[in-house]
Amino acid sequence: MERRTKIIAIANQKGGVGKTTTVVNLAAALSARKRAVLVVDLDPQAHATLGLGLEKQQGVSLYPVLLGEKPIEDVIQPTKWNNLNVIPSEVDLAGAELEFGAREDRLEMIRNALAPVRDAGAFDYIILDCPPSLGIVMTSSLVASDGVLIPIQAEFLAMDGLALITGSIERIRQSVNPSLDLNGIVFTMVNSQAKLTHDVMEEVRNHFGDKVYETAIPRNVRVSEAPSMGTPVVFLDPRSKGAESYKAFAWEFMAKNPTRFDVPQRVAEPVSTPAAAPAVAPQTETAVEAAPQSETVSEPQPETVSQDAQPRQEA
Ligand SMILES: Nc1ncnc2c1ncn2[C@@H]1O[C@H](COP(=O)(O)OP(=O)(O)OP(=O)(O)O)[C@@H](O)[C@H]1O
Ligand SMILES: [Mg+2]
Repeated sequence: MERRTKIIAIANQKGGVGKTTTVVNLAAALSARKRAVLVVDLDPQAHATLGLGLEKQQGVSLYPVLLGEKPIEDVIQPTKWNNLNVIPSEVDLAGAELEFGAREDRLEMIRNALAPVRDAGAFDYIILDCPPSLGIVMTSSLVASDGVLIPIQAEFLAMDGLALITGSIERIRQSVNPSLDLNGIVFTMVNSQAKLTHDVMEEVRNHFGDKVYETAIPRNVRVSEAPSMGTPVVFLDPRSKGAESYKAFAWEFMAKNPTRFDVPQRVAEPVSTPAAAPAVAPQTETAVEAAPQSETVSEPQPETVSQDAQPRQEA
């Protein structure tokens, strides 16, 4: 049976390729489609945290959970938008590479930390924003994940960078996590005028075939402006080219990564006591648009194509 919660790492050891932008906007677009989403910010730069409108806060990250000092439920924060939650990052995570490098369970530490939330099944997707290095945080994220999504820029040496990360994925698959799937490769910051862009995209598509998402994200100024407003561009300017492509990308992603919405199901009994849900429950949308965030976890209904849930707007 299809597992209820999918854990997807968004990773590339190369810096500045659009990982965090993809995390933030994919998560936002999925939440607008009524998927319950948890973003886990694993980069001490905390750009995903800020991009989702939250502040960094000492002690509110996966770090104390990895240390065994806090239960994971204590660090899950709601955002301003329905269905969209985040475990923020903080500078202490910067020490994780050194501090946790000698731990016996270093490869499984993130998998173990996320286990209670995955098992509770309240989220459709848990999306991990990895730091730009092939260190222990990224490796442990890949061990924890069902799939890895690689954002890349169509530029010189793109294939070399891909070889590095796909090599890591292969090694993890052959050892600790045989079910890790190369979920896909998505082109970001595409400049469609450049010939090099077309050549690189063609080379990558020839090599990776249908692992490459059809939707490519164009370079778009609204995308780069959104983080300073603490709002994903898909909410800030939904009709911008960047937002439209992230929404199209999210559709493709959902088709590749079905959850409970996408498998036939019987009409569920209303859930009155969310015993298995985390302390901070994801807010599921009610039939009324822009309804106040619900405190309880209700069973989301299968989606119809015409539904276009909007984020709860700020007052
Ligand atoms: N489609 C886009 N159009 C314009 N600017 C973009 C686009 N995508 C990302 N950017 C900008 O490019 C920069 C790098 O993006 P981002 O932070 O998402 O990359 P990253 O891979 O997460 O970086 P790091 O490796 O440092 O974590 C940011 O300033 C971001 O706003
Ligand atoms: Mg980043």
